[in-house]
Amino acid sequence: MSTSDDPNKVLIFDTTLRDGEQSPGISLNTQEKLEIAAQLAKLGVDVIEAGFPITSPGDFDAVQAISRTVDGPVITALARTHVGDIDAAYNAVKDAARPRIHTFVSTSDIHIIHQLQTTREDVKGQARAAVAHAKQYVDDVEFSPMDATRAELEYTAEVCQIAIDEGATTINIPDTVGYAVPHEYAEFLRGLYALVPDLHDVVLSVHCHDDLGLAVANSLAGLLAGARQVECAINGIGERAGNASLEEIVMLLHTRQAELGMHTGAVTREIARTSRMVSRLTGYPVQPNKAIVGRNAFAHESGIHQDGVLKERTTYEIMDATTVGLEANSIVLGKHSGRHALQQALAELGFELSGQALVTAFRRFKEIADKKKQVTAMDLEALLTDELRQEIAGYDLEWFDVEASSRSRRPPHATVCVRGPEGEELLGSFTGDGPVDAIFHAINAATSVDARLKEFRVDAVTGGQDALGETSVVLEVGGVTGSGQGVSTDILEAGARAYVRALSNAVRRQGVLAETDPATAVTPEVVGTP
Ligand code: KIV
Ligand code: ZN
Repeated sequence: MSTSDDPNKVLIFDTTLRDGEQSPGISLNTQEKLEIAAQLAKLGVDVIEAGFPITSPGDFDAVQAISRTVDGPVITALARTHVGDIDAAYNAVKDAARPRIHTFVSTSDIHIIHQLQTTREDVKGQARAAVAHAKQYVDDVEFSPMDATRAELEYTAEVCQIAIDEGATTINIPDTVGYAVPHEYAEFLRGLYALVPDLHDVVLSVHCHDDLGLAVANSLAGLLAGARQVECAINGIGERAGNASLEEIVMLLHTRQAELGMHTGAVTREIARTSRMVSRLTGYPVQPNKAIVGRNAFAHESGIHQDGVLKERTTYEIMDATTVGLEANSIVLGKHSGRHALQQALAELGFELSGQALVTAFRRFKEIADKKKQVTAMDLEALLTDELRQEIAGYDLEWFDVEASSRSRRPPHATVCVRGPEGEELLGSFTGDGPVDAIFHAINAATSVDARLKEFRVDAVTGGQDALGETSVVLEVGGVTGSGQGVSTDILEAGARAYVRALSNAVRRQGVLAETDPATAVTPEVVGTP
């Protein structure tokens, strides 16, 4: 149940930066995580799970930076039941205005026997000690019995009771492997309420994975059974098939509020922008038919539907696109627009720019406005995110030349100039299978980094032949992955930028991991993140 004054308020616990960031190929740096966290605060989420600090110094730094700068939501960090994990979580969140420690241990026999290789009694002891230890640091402690939906109800209830006795203020019931079905999950929660009446005095939370496509349905079933916190992620990203999608939960409760009788504090008009930002920074595309935020979520193709919507929108639309922040902005600039107009347009989009940042943004805007008739809000947003990327990159693309023709006539050849971390100019050339391949290998040659491409994707920011191209690269350097994005009217340039940034991110991550004492290093692989 809820411990807030309003029994119908559902708390939105966003785990985009923790469970979401565990999706394969995502590697956000601190600056990117800060940007997302600030946007999540604008979206009005109640809790931000900012990371799992024990897993790497980079994760610790990001959680700490978010705790120090992002106002509004509770900031929480994940910890196993180990003392070291809890200490790291506390140190990372302690400067937040409202810090929380989230600790977990599995209650299913499958996990206890095979993964933890211990006993039920020991797990009870771990839960007791962990919550007690976290409680010495903060009042707000969340406890999760991992893999609860495959665990015995009575035993999980005992462990939850222990956590509550030690002071846990939120009990979260994870469907870790996305195995539950709605009526069964609801039954499990009702069973817990019956066995642990004290659950009524804390917040009961749901955390559902989407392996069977039921994460949102299971979360709703949990809410109907009395839970009042939902753990979810933007665009539904997360381990394997992902977590319950935040935008779907929020709009479900918003659209069907009359029947469901529950509501959230989310600012729905920030949904679309948050979704685009997360997609852009993680390099995870949003499928066109994705509910709420997919490109086609509000598009009507069939004549009958179009006819109906033109006569009366509600004939075929259950939500208004402007409610989720789509089509809310009609900004259009062109090549004659001045710096002041750009500054105002950016301010409308939530970017307050002045001084050198504005000069740089204006230069990029002019380059694009020269090639593209109309620069829209979506273009500006893509551009700005792209500019922010440049500030944090270790290497920077200066220029490239590429010669390409049909392979039988002359193999594509590229020369690139990259500015190194110390400001030095680095040149590299390569003859590849295609122009993109030649550029990427030439960047490897210039930086002397043996990066291996894992994914390369090109999208258009808006429609139209002169649309900005947005590229996304995931690569690997010595076993460490890095991702990067680039935006330009020229997809070769966008690709080269994305590649240089991905390479910078991978090299930086590799450096951070190398600095960690190998004897004490706890990488996500070792931790076996849930
Ligand atoms: O899926 C899971 O069980 C988790 C827990 C740590 C809450 O992510
Ligand atoms: Zn999870």
